[in-house]
This record gives sequence, structure tokens and C-alpha cells, in this order.
Amino acid sequence: MSAKATSLSRHLVEEGKWVDAQLSELPVLLRDMGYTAKILAREIRRAALVGKLGLVGEKNPSGDAQKKLDVYSNEVVVDAFTDSGLVAAIVSEEMEELRTISCNDAAEYLLCVDPLDGSSNTDVNGAVGTIFSFYRRGVAGACTDCEAELREGARLVAAGYVLYGPSTVLVCSMGRGVNGYTLDHDVGEFMLSQENIRCPVSGAYYSANLGRYHDWDPNVRAYADYVIERDAASGRPYSLRYSGALVADVHRSLLEGGIYLYPADEGRTGGKLRLLYECLPLAFVVEAAAGRASSGRERILDLRPASLHQTSPLAIGGVDDVQLFERFVATGSP
Ligand code: AHG
Ligand code: MN
Ligand code: MN
Repeated sequence: MSAKATSLSRHLVEEGKWVDAQLSELPVLLRDMGYTAKILAREIRRAALVGKLGLVGEKNPSGDAQKKLDVYSNEVVVDAFTDSGLVAAIVSEEMEELRTISCNDAAEYLLCVDPLDGSSNTDVNGAVGTIFSFYRRGVAGACTDCEAELREGARLVAAGYVLYGPSTVLVCSMGRGVNGYTLDHDVGEFMLSQENIRCPVSGAYYSANLGRYHDWDPNVRAYADYVIERDAASGRPYSLRYSGALVADVHRSLLEGGIYLYPADEGRTGGKLRLLYECLPLAFVVEAAAGRASSGRERILDLRPASLHQTSPLAIGGVDDVQLFERFVATGSP
């Protein structure tokens, strides 16, 4: 590493100069998320050694079996932002209701979080992640109508994710550009590793759970058939990459173009992925990097969740790839 390496904290101070004065706490919130990610990275790395693999025996609000690491990750996030004093309430995949944290005037933000994304991968040492977003509240003081504030898209002011893979990477945006930071375990800091990420308009990969192919809409199946046809001029066939962790697959699409898909299917007519803490934060990041995120019919960032754990179909990645998918959804052809 060169002597000019820039830490997350240092870089956030620089980036913070570009945000509105009323959003001046955003760099502090992202720094706190970096701290949270360091705790989680440590615990995920040693989970097999300290009895943190396996199931808890409960279900989360989406009906998924909770892993010990899901519950632990949620506690770490809630504790970290309880201490910050800047967050009024938290919506988490692992909590049925919105959790009120602080109703004082300084707590001007709401946090939506998937504390551990891809938790089916924990027991096999696969990639996992954390997905987060911050909303700026409309009013200070008591959280009387926080859920309504989460339906005002313009209040979504920062978002990002952490990927715990071979290295731990934090990718985030305060709306102006997207940057990636890699955790240097020796220094104990996230260091700037990908500045001003731009999502290529198209790529060579698609990510989807093809095990659900026969439950998809015929137009979605037509798209999946199309991308594996042979046509050198349009770069087909695409190669399949699917990790079981949205964060890992979207990270590939963000850096290399291509598309991640989780369509609606017969068993899940509203899709599987949750709007508030999966689809919307990733859409915010990918669009800030000039990519695109869609339900197939509508831009994800235009969707307004009617409930905290509402799901949506998701197609996300390079602009051309996602627009092609939208044409298939509408017409069944390119
Ligand atoms: P989570 O572990 O937070 O519940 O999220 C799992 C999500 C996502 O990360 C992944 O892409 C998808 O569910 C995998 O679902 P399938 O097993 O149906 O492919
Ligand atoms: Mn998830
Ligand atoms: Mn999760």
C-alpha cells in the first residue's frame, strides 16, 4: 500500500464537504457504520470457533429461519446506533416493528438495515454482507410518523453495503458518487480502494436463482433463455454467477456491469427481496454509480413501501442490461 493511502474517516471528511449543510452528520453515521462493520467482520471470521454458526430456532418477520449470526449482527447494529445519538429509529430485517432509539432533537435520521445478508452462506464460509440506508427525518423530536417518512423517497440520503468476502469491503454513497473502502486488518481501518465507482452499462454476467425458472413469468423465462443464446455481436452467452448473497452478486454487477435478478414467481408474487433494507439501498448506490435498478416495470427508487417488510421484484446492474430486462418483462422480446 502506498504511503498516500486514505482512511474511510479521512475520506468521509472530504466527501462531506459536498453534502448539504443540513446533512452534515452523514459522514459521522457512515463512519459509525464502518465501526459496526469491523465488529461484524471480526465475529463472522471467527464464528465457527466461538459457537456462532447455526440456527437460533426462531423465524424473522419475513418467515426465514434466523441464524445466530443474524441475531448477533442485529444486536451489534442496534447497539452501535443507539450510542450514536443521531438515529431516531431503526428498521431491520430481524425486528418485526420499527425500533425507536432516541426521540431527542439531535436524532434526525432513520436507519434501515439488513444486518446480515446471505445468511444461508454462514455455515459454509460463503460471502455475506450488511445493507444499510439513512433517511433524513422531516421533524425533530418524537417518532410519531417515522413509517410515513420512510415513504418519502427524497428522504433517502445515504446508503451502502458491506461485503464480508475474501476481504471486507464497504461501499457507500451520500448521493454524489460511490466509493469503496477495503478493511486493512493490520491498520484496523477501512482504506479507500475504489474511488468514484462507475457501473458499466453492460457486462458479461447474470445472477439469478435459476432453480425458480419454472415458477417465473414466461417473459422473464424468455429473458433468461435470451442471455444464454450464442451471439458474439451482443456478447452472448452471458456467464452465470450466483452466490446466494445479494450483496456479493450486486457488488460484481456494480463493478463489472451485468445484471442481478430476483423476479416475482408463483410462490412469491411480490418477489422475495425487501424494499426498505435490500432493494432501495442497493438501488441508491447503483444509480449513484450510473447503473439502474428496477422491479421490471418501475424504477425501484420510485417505489413506496406500504409496510416495513414489503418485498419487490428486483433487477439491478448496468443500464443497458436492466433496460433490456424491462423490455422483456413488457413484451417478451428484446
Ligand atoms: P437474507 O439472508 O438477508 O435473508 O437475504 C437473502 C437474499 C439475498 O441475499 C439472496 O440473493 C437471496 O435471498 C437468495 O435467495 P434464494 O435462496 O431464493 O436464491
Ligand atoms: Mn438480505
Ligand atoms: Mn439478512
